[in-house]
Amino acid sequence: MPSRPPRSDRPRPSGRPAERSGGHGKRPGHKTQGDHRARQPAREYVLDVLPGLEHVAATELGTVPLARDIRGLRFWYPGDPERLTRLRSAVAVYRIETWDVPRPRGLLGNQQLGELAAYLREVVSVGGHTSFRLGAAGKESAVMQRLAEEVQTLLNLPHQPEDGELLIRLRPQEDGPGWEVLARVTPRPLSARAWRVCNREGGLNATIAYATHKLAGQRDIDRIFNPMSGSGTLLVERALLGPYDAMVGVDIEQGAVDCARANLQAARRDVEVARVDALHTGLPARSFDLIVADLPWGDAIGSHASNEVLYPEFLTEMHRLTSRQGRLAVITHEIKLFERVLREQHKWEGRELLQVYSGGHHPKVYLLSRR
Ligand SMILES: C[S@@+](CC[C@H](N)C(=O)[O-])C[C@H]1O[C@@H](n2cnc3c(N)ncnc32)[C@H](O)[C@@H]1O
Repeated sequence: MPSRPPRSDRPRPSGRPAERSGGHGKRPGHKTQGDHRARQPAREYVLDVLPGLEHVAATELGTVPLARDIRGLRFWYPGDPERLTRLRSAVAVYRIETWDVPRPRGLLGNQQLGELAAYLREVVSVGGHTSFRLGAAGKESAVMQRLAEEVQTLLNLPHQPEDGELLIRLRPQEDGPGWEVLARVTPRPLSARAWRVCNREGGLNATIAYATHKLAGQRDIDRIFNPMSGSGTLLVERALLGPYDAMVGVDIEQGAVDCARANLQAARRDVEVARVDALHTGLPARSFDLIVADLPWGDAIGSHASNEVLYPEFLTEMHRLTSRQGRLAVITHEIKLFERVLREQHKWEGRELLQVYSGGHHPKVYLLSRR
């Protein structure tokens, strides 16, 4: 062990006690009668989000009752972890604990392994994971292999290096000399929504769809249009957010329409999706208060050449369909083209809401209104 204060080698989450009581003088684990937010000893968690969506996730985290000591995306929480699995802006939620060991090898001591097993068992008891994998730099090293063998024995879970459900990440402690062990609370990422029974190439990451709706504004009175709806990600995420006056999606491909319908059905949301050319809808002018569109990015869907034609036509038709006070939210990776067309048309004003990094892409989201 390095020069460090004497310690018990117990997990020492950021120098805090490993358990915190639920507060208000209640015993740890005490449940208030009828309180669905069952209190338990507080545990430390951290959210994993797409770069660019941190502020959206922080805002959403602020709405979680009992979440406290929030530092960025890290926080303590004494409630039922199930509530955290309903966060919609995060890719994943992890439990996190810190061991005061200088290297991962230090986790292989008897005591540390016992503590690690107890910690991971607690996570598995919530998430019901049926396999595990390690995610760490050097996971092929002898120490990591040994750790994987020990975890396999202690948890009696198969080690599946590629797709194990319990993702265990090791990393140096952020603000100290130890090592942090993160354990993903759910077997699959939160961004892999349960409603997604149909996937299509170019499908939007659901956390980006959620963020776009939150930033574009959520109003009960909105009449919402989602042209080019693809697999329906923006439709489902908005339908799950709460009431609206009306909502309709269109796509030019029947396969996309069927796919969106299947996802909406899985989400138990009743939203109309039709096979219509978004550039020639035939709908009356000013039909919508919010138009939200994930345009073809010119790689998986569409091409740069076809987008040169599509983008100006799209903006012209959406200008016709947007109500006087209406908003247009656009997600695109064709940033130069989109901004050039906006300048040339001189019909819209607004701003860039965010840029997000996802799967090797870095699309921007804009929120515009008619000039
Ligand atoms: C980037 S994808 C949308 C992906 C969608 N957000 C999702 O999560 O699956 C763009 C979609 O625009 C559709 N599209 C392209 N040109 C169109 C047009 N003129 N009218 C309607 N849909 C169109 C494509 O068929 C494709 O489904």
